[in-house]
Amino acid sequence: MAHARLTVTPSDIIAPVSPRLFGSFVEHMGRAVYTGIYEPGHATADERGFRRDVLELVQELGATVIRYPGGNFVSGFRWEDSVGPVAERPTRLEVAWHSIETNEVGLHEFADWAETAGVEVMNAVNLGTRGIEDAASLLEYSNHPENTALSEQRRANGRDEPFGITLWCLGNEMDGPWQIGHKTADEYGRLAAETGRVMKWIDPGIELVAAGSSNADMPTFGTWEKTVLEHGIDVFDHISLHAYYEETNGDVDSFLASGVGLDRYIRRVADIIRETLDAHGSDRTIGISVDEWNVWNQTRFNEIDKPPLFAGGWNEHPRIIEDEYTVTDAVVVGSLLMSLLRNSDVVSMANLAQLVNVIAPIRSEPDGPAWRQTTFHPFALTARFAQGSVVRSTVEADEQSTAGYGAVPLLDAVALADGDETTLLLVNRSTTEALEVAVDVEGAPVASVLHQRTLGVPDGGSRHSSNSQSEPDAVLPLDLGIVTVDDGAARAVLPALSWSIVRLATPRTTSTITTPGTDNV
Ligand code: AHR
Repeated sequence: MAHARLTVTPSDIIAPVSPRLFGSFVEHMGRAVYTGIYEPGHATADERGFRRDVLELVQELGATVIRYPGGNFVSGFRWEDSVGPVAERPTRLEVAWHSIETNEVGLHEFADWAETAGVEVMNAVNLGTRGIEDAASLLEYSNHPENTALSEQRRANGRDEPFGITLWCLGNEMDGPWQIGHKTADEYGRLAAETGRVMKWIDPGIELVAAGSSNADMPTFGTWEKTVLEHGIDVFDHISLHAYYEETNGDVDSFLASGVGLDRYIRRVADIIRETLDAHGSDRTIGISVDEWNVWNQTRFNEIDKPPLFAGGWNEHPRIIEDEYTVTDAVVVGSLLMSLLRNSDVVSMANLAQLVNVIAPIRSEPDGPAWRQTTFHPFALTARFAQGSVVRSTVEADEQSTAGYGAVPLLDAVALADGDETTLLLVNRSTTEALEVAVDVEGAPVASVLHQRTLGVPDGGSRHSSNSQSEPDAVLPLDLGIVTVDDGAARAVLPALSWSIVRLATPRTTSTITTPGTDNV
């Protein structure tokens, strides 16, 4: 058995837990929309054609903000195609994913669905093939109350009140050569800043997300952020960061340390933001919007699935990147979400990419059922129980060496404090050994365990197990009784390769609280 010590300091607050960290993403891509959230004729479809079974799972997942309509899709999208009478909407070649887009679902339908689901829409504008005028028109159409041609068009299309969309992404992954209308940092930075300025003149209440790097290995990473921020330091409210992880060449130890990679990536972007703001003498705050993150077997997509897709015919909602997630993937997703919480002093938003069918926690079959993938569970449990504040915790643990990130502690941990409760998120990165963790909550002795769930490899199970249409609940989080309490301290024995959430009753004995940027008093 390996060993670790976790010391939680509830008085040392990193940041209040923001609901915006539990966002997700619906792109007009593959079967995310069509036969995903929308399938008229399905046994559970509502009067507008939206699947109630999928909607219920979205609500159970606890997603808060949904980015829409892309992704790579948005860089060739003409938003006007997707409003007005459905029968009159044009069918288009969708070049980003080599598909046919019917525009049957557009802004009005998606906003209605989002309202029913209780989620906020985060809308992206096309800065690939289009620019200022298009973005300004879409914003006016969406958010201006009435008495202009565009706002009256929206009203004529059935929506009297403005959509009131606050969050706007200025394009998508414009640093990537795969992007329609790919740009240099200067080209993009200037366009995004000028577009953003006009958008804020139309609606000063909006928040703008500039497109940052598509991943930390982009050759332009770092200079891209600095250059883009230089152009729009006065207008951007967030800059995005996209991060996908996969297990390559069977290197599971590096894969399980993906959270370390995300921590480093986030802190590097945070440093660039700080340095650029300081250089401009600006006291603004610019947050990091991790608006695409997940596990994605990209190597398989690029080498095996993509060539025939792009060489083949043009089809409506083809099956694209419907990754079936394993126990290992779920542990990594849990740990990536822990990284987002740990860094929530600088991460302002995050979107699990994506929501349904396309690298998604929820799967659905046409005319068939919907089910939860393994990755659904750590996300849903974290979204449900992450309350209060993320607080500082210190890990001392046995380590393992990884090719990707050097030596990493076997224990990954995040602590949350909410009144007299402390919630721990714990990952054992060892694939072979259980990990005993001695937990000490400073100034708040552990009285009892309120709730515990573990997702891992049960006895005789495989780390490659997944949920499927025929076995939707093969992998579930279980109460394995891994935590015991003795004399004010807790002891957890984390199974090899596992993610756990543990809620502890921790009545405080002191009321000393440190908020970020103030001295402890
Ligand atoms: O989420 C799938 C794709 O990944 C998105 O369209 C794109 O932004 C990213 O490369």
